[in-house]
Amino acid sequence: MSDDLLKKVISHAKEYGFVFPSSEIYDGLSAAYDYGQLGAELKNNIKHYWWTAMVRMHDNIVGLDASIFMHPKTWKASGHIDAFNDPLIDNKDSNKRYRADVLIEDHIGKIEAKIQKDVAKALKRFGDAFDEAEFRSTNGRVLDRQKQIDDINVRFKSAMEAEDLVAVKQLIEDLDIADPDTGSRNWTDVRQFNLMFKTELGAVSGESGVIYLRPETAQGIFVNFLNVQKSGRMKIPFGIAQIGKAFRNEIIARQFIFRMREFEQMEMQFFVKPGTQAEWYAYWKEARIKWHNALGLGEDMYRFHDHIKLAHYADAASDIEFNFPMGFKELEGVHSRTDFDLNQHEAHSNKKLRYFDPETQESYVPYVVETSIGLDRMFLATLSAALQEETLEDGSTRTVLRIPAPLAPVKVAILPLLKKDGLPEKAREIMAMLQMDHNVQYDEKDAIGRRYRRQDAIGTPLCITVDHDTLIDHAVTIRDRDTMTQERVAIDQLVAVVAGKVSIAQLFKAS
Ligand code: GAP
Repeated sequence: MSDDLLKKVISHAKEYGFVFPSSEIYDGLSAAYDYGQLGAELKNNIKHYWWTAMVRMHDNIVGLDASIFMHPKTWKASGHIDAFNDPLIDNKDSNKRYRADVLIEDHIGKIEAKIQKDVAKALKRFGDAFDEAEFRSTNGRVLDRQKQIDDINVRFKSAMEAEDLVAVKQLIEDLDIADPDTGSRNWTDVRQFNLMFKTELGAVSGESGVIYLRPETAQGIFVNFLNVQKSGRMKIPFGIAQIGKAFRNEIIARQFIFRMREFEQMEMQFFVKPGTQAEWYAYWKEARIKWHNALGLGEDMYRFHDHIKLAHYADAASDIEFNFPMGFKELEGVHSRTDFDLNQHEAHSNKKLRYFDPETQESYVPYVVETSIGLDRMFLATLSAALQEETLEDGSTRTVLRIPAPLAPVKVAILPLLKKDGLPEKAREIMAMLQMDHNVQYDEKDAIGRRYRRQDAIGTPLCITVDHDTLIDHAVTIRDRDTMTQERVAIDQLVAVVAGKVSIAQLFKAS
């Protein structure tokens, strides 16, 4: 995995209509992207897979579509107005803006890389007899470097906890950290920067009219907890799921659609009885990794990163990381958020947000286990893992997108062998049979081999060829994207055969 792969993914995504830079004719807008004709399909299919798994397959989870704008008190209650900040610093010579915490983390990363180099060297020298844990705990140079890292972490953590931004700047200066682009050490002071986008409501100007674009979809679920529970007669444990846009004014938004200022989340809050949250947290960690693994992108492409430092409202948290072209990075979070959010909304709204348990006759504020995945990150994970260049037996190469078939933007391509002899008409008939259930593309241009390559490049799992025999034996040839094998299938079997290969149900059979 490399930067090179990321570049290939970006250019492939643009060339074939998956993702375009936003407002490109005006030279684009940083960290904003538009999903093209195939990207919109892939995105919808990912949403459909998530919604099916969460809402349809759980009779105690229901959906919601809350508004992006919410009463500003929501964000006071949730803590976003006071604490949803990143510490930023500017370089006075280059005028470039950085996250102070990222500069420090990158500095630590460099020291870690040196330790890794020492470990690799020792491994080479000692071979099978090498004991890495012992080496790390006894080698003088490694111990020195580890101590440097620990000292930096202690200073940084205590500065952030005390909200002492002068101490953060002092740390950057003491570590002699330079602008990664220019090498300049001419820094401004560190300031807190709130990540929420502000706008004004109607004609009201000034602070009283300020509202925010939601930085997460979760709060729309919390404020509707009782509406849904009562109107849907939901019994705890139950969940509310939502897919929608979120906005964060990220200081540095890089790496294509990995970190954007406008993105989409798929979140689910699962309301449980206090005391049972640990078992539900374990349940959702397992359920979510199963959902990912069913796609077949490779189990080694995922890993859990359990948080050691927890946010003040959480009693457990873990990220599902994916091996993106830039390395393992967060794709999804599973968080045990206690009763923090509902308590906060009770306090700020003066409305009770309690569940009355008809069996025990007691009333309580439920605990919440949340699963939160970025749709755009899931899109990037799917696309980057799928893009492959293969050398075939005859020495030629093909670019193929091995997107899991149920997520593929186009499921079936219908290809009449020739543009005459009644073949296009037959092909259109077959298309009409399939297009109510699947996204189907018709292509009659160029030689059949070139048409196969075009479909490989956009990840179409099945190509159906209509030839002269079709008119006699009422059968077609289906060519499989991955194996490139071909089989003859009777037209009256097509609906079932195609569904058996590309429907979303296949993903649930696999898990
Ligand atoms: N409600 C919990 C929450 O919002 P988060 O870890 O801040 O938690 C959840 O975000 C997920 O949203 C992340 O795991 C990531 O996939 C996605 N996400 C967060 N910031 C993003 C950004 N700037 N661009 C794209 N996706 C983002």
